[in-house]
Amino acid sequence: HGLLGEVWDDEMSTSRLSTRMKKVVQNYQAMNKYGVKISGPVGGPSQPKLSGPELLCQLKHKVEVVSLTADLHPFSMLPWASQLPAQQLTSELGPFKSCAVVSSAGSLRNSGLGKEIDSHDAILRFNAAPTSGFEKDVGSKTTMRLINSQVMASEEHRFLSSSLYSSGVLLAWDPAPFSSDLTQWLNRTDYPIFTQYQRYRRLHPQQPFFILHPRFEWQVWQRVQENMAESIQKNPPSSGFLGTVLMMSLCEVVHVYEFLPSKRKTELCHYYQHFYDAACTLGAYHPLLYEKNLVKRMNRGSDHDIYSLGRVTLPGFSVVNC
Ligand code: C5P
Repeated sequence: HGLLGEVWDDEMSTSRLSTRMKKVVQNYQAMNKYGVKISGPVGGPSQPKLSGPELLCQLKHKVEVVSLTADLHPFSMLPWASQLPAQQLTSELGPFKSCAVVSSAGSLRNSGLGKEIDSHDAILRFNAAPTSGFEKDVGSKTTMRLINSQVMASEEHRFLSSSLYSSGVLLAWDPAPFSSDLTQWLNRTDYPIFTQYQRYRRLHPQQPFFILHPRFEWQVWQRVQENMAESIQKNPPSSGFLGTVLMMSLCEVVHVYEFLPSKRKTELCHYYQHFYDAACTLGAYHPLLYEKNLVKRMNRGSDHDIYSLGRVTLPGFSVVNC
């Protein structure tokens, strides 16, 4: 309120959404496509709210950043196993001092944040987010790109042929069964992540390319649910939040841009597309609203930084004392 204007409130709830958005979210909340075995707020509505430092320690100790390796059963038995990295991504990447996570939000438009973003040691971008033509607002360096299996599989994104994906390290994920059973997942991926992975690796054998273990996405999901007073969507967290947690495990400090909307808040979905939908910022399929509540609680920067820069500052796991 007042001079600062409003920034994200960490108790944001579906009850404060528009009637239309509420319906969309409730629809997703009623589904359980991935067989999530946990229902509703874990500690009941009266559970004590953890402080920011306590949340950081939970994430640090109760989320494993794991990726698929060539020797991992059942992949090790498949003819293409050798296309998978021999090592975990956490032993191949970083550690970095300062990192930038660039959400793809429409509010990055006209932000002028490009120079600041590029000043970091490592920069994470998502899915089809380009830098070319948007350097002034989002920077030009890409250290890593986290992509979902839908982007890998859809015709419109030209994953196999577009140069958009050829800089930096690729990291991919697919909404997997909650059980995180790898054989179950292999037999029913949400999108054909493994066929696309094999094709891409054949075309670009030199580019490092990791696939996240489903345990990672669902452990992150559980940390979100157990810290919310209401039931969250039983779907994996958004790429933005998965990437933020991943960078917290690789970097001493993580700056996340326009995940919590600044004064430039807009219904424009992505800075690179003329498509408007409030669900991009508030979540529909993903429990994005609740991810944002957690990020707000862990933020070590000021509300002014959120308001004027859309910037959140999170410590890396290596520097938090638990
Ligand atoms: O849409 P996409 O998943 O490619 O965007 C990358 C991430 O940026 C999202 O997963 C979400 O976490 C974040 N985002 C956001 N608000 C938007 C668009 C994206 O918070 N309007």
